[in-house]
Amino acid sequence: MKPTEHQHSRYGALWDLTEGQRARYGAAIGVMFAATACTYGLPLIIKWCIDGIVDGQFAGLDTFPLAQGFSNVAILSLAALGAIACTGVGGGFTYLRGRWASMASEAITRRLRNRLFSHLERLPAAFHDRSETGDLIQRCTSDVETLRRFLAAQVVEVGRTVIMVLTVTPVLFWLDVKLALTSLVLIPIIFMLAWKFFGRVKDLFQAKDEAEAAMSARLQENLTGIRVVRAFARQEHEVLRFAEANANFRNQDQRLNVIMAWYWSVSDAVSMTQMGLVLFFGAYWVMTGDISVGTLFAFYTYVGMFIWPIRHLGRVLEDVGKAVVALGRLNHILEEPEESSDEVAPATPIRGRIEIHGLTFGFDPEKPVLSDIDLTIEAGETIALMGPPGSGKSTFAQLLLRLYDYETGSIQIDETELSALPRDHVRSAVGIVLQDPFLYSRSIRENLLVGKWDATQAELDAACDEAAIAGSIDRFSRGMDAMVGERGVTLSGGQRQRVALARALVRNPPILILDDSLSAVDTGTEQHILGALAARKGRATTLVITHRLSTIADADRIVILNEGRIVQLGTEAELREAQGPYARLRALQHDFESSLEADLKVTGQSREKTP
Ligand SMILES: Nc1ncnc2c1ncn2[C@@H]1O[C@H](COP(=O)(O)OP(=O)(O)O)[C@@H](O)[C@H]1O
Ligand SMILES: [Mg+2]
Repeated sequence: MKPTEHQHSRYGALWDLTEGQRARYGAAIGVMFAATACTYGLPLIIKWCIDGIVDGQFAGLDTFPLAQGFSNVAILSLAALGAIACTGVGGGFTYLRGRWASMASEAITRRLRNRLFSHLERLPAAFHDRSETGDLIQRCTSDVETLRRFLAAQVVEVGRTVIMVLTVTPVLFWLDVKLALTSLVLIPIIFMLAWKFFGRVKDLFQAKDEAEAAMSARLQENLTGIRVVRAFARQEHEVLRFAEANANFRNQDQRLNVIMAWYWSVSDAVSMTQMGLVLFFGAYWVMTGDISVGTLFAFYTYVGMFIWPIRHLGRVLEDVGKAVVALGRLNHILEEPEESSDEVAPATPIRGRIEIHGLTFGFDPEKPVLSDIDLTIEAGETIALMGPPGSGKSTFAQLLLRLYDYETGSIQIDETELSALPRDHVRSAVGIVLQDPFLYSRSIRENLLVGKWDATQAELDAACDEAAIAGSIDRFSRGMDAMVGERGVTLSGGQRQRVALARALVRNPPILILDDSLSAVDTGTEQHILGALAARKGRATTLVITHRLSTIADADRIVILNEGRIVQLGTEAELREAQGPYARLRALQHDFESSLEADLKVTGQSREKTP
């Protein structure tokens, strides 16, 4: 498995995240070394005691003149105290290792979460179109958690195993070469088993994680859209779809469990064989007088002690595998380029003149949603934009917000190319109200302040008046401080649209876009809002996207869009004269509530434009 370029950048990203925590990590590794030394000193002390008792004299004691007069019991007691001290100190070091490693890993994952969040906030709209919310949530929670566990335990664990092999092996050879070779003969097999296993489970883990993410995505999607599901009586269908995702997750998990069970049994068998070999040959060599009983004890203890970490290495490496997968999934987000922000804002505030030439745009370049748009809107002008669903009206509005970047044609705002203006600058100059506006689950006041965070009470009141929502707010017991339920469900659709309108108006934007935003208000309220908008006419370049003829009465000009092209453009009077979609629509006045769609479909794709 050769590391590719991609993997390098993957580990590079992880390395960057450890910045500021490396010293703590180093300290954790250092105390781990000390803890290991203490643990592996213990069998040597016991070996020395056993051999001393068996031989009737303790080796090396003659070099300590002080200990000459000690009785065997006193010497054994001292050795026991030494063993206890060894274990105690080792335990202390292990505690410090755990503490420092987890402090470092907490700090690193905290930084990672913040980085992910701020990155997600800055990714272009096109990324979010492609991604499922549930999947992103899974990445930001459970994948980050996998990485945290890896940093807190696995890194240190791998280090511990390596240090152990490096220190214990020389001790074994020093004690007895034959038995050392016997003790190590199956270790490579145990290790290879672990290594192969790791390679295998990595893919299975990825498959399982993906199945889990698909399942949570489905759950999340259904909870968010529960009302739509009900309205279309799709429950049965959705339950089946969920059951399918759930079964897939179960299958992946089971495959993983089966292969794990296999691994542990095979590895158990090999490890027990290794222990058996040491016991068998060790006992034999004790009988032939090649080694002492104490040495056999030490070997048996050492092999028992270090076979476990080596087998466990399979598990550790499996977690490393999971962490690599998790890191890859996180990098998938982190490597996504953010919206560029190197444009420089012009000194003068936006006035709102929009000039568009030859604009062609499609989410998929093969399939243009807007084609050859030529349109000049003077500052302060009110334009009504009509067209059947799917004709590209909302897309047009999103382009003006710089939510997507166009490549063909030009959009100029006050003589500056839109793509040369900073996104924040553009967006703060455009107030937009969507058909299905998103409101935060906070108070109405906080939702309004999203439009302008430092708005005064008078400004808020004025905006609410203009949006015809002031009356409704007064009727709430807590007034403007009334909480909006999750996604604004405690407000009616019309009230939500009006709060969203007030939120846009409070900003007093030079460009105001209403994207089908009055569809859910009744005709009386609509007239009230239109009256208010007419009163502020000229203060903002206003683009009203609508299906209703009643909405366009105050528009200076009307643009009719069909299949991404402007098919009619002119004042109301001009369009009424011309024999086009607009005139036909008016002829159908009695049911003007119905969309243009039917009309345009029936009469074919006429392309006439009034001069
Ligand atoms: N984010 C998107 N990604 C891909 N296609 C989109 C996206 N938004 C809209 N479209 C497609 O672009 C076309 C125009 O959509 P839209 O501008 O929303 O129409 P309208 O607002 O006039 O109803 C539709 O065919 C729609 O499926
Ligand atoms: Mg739309």
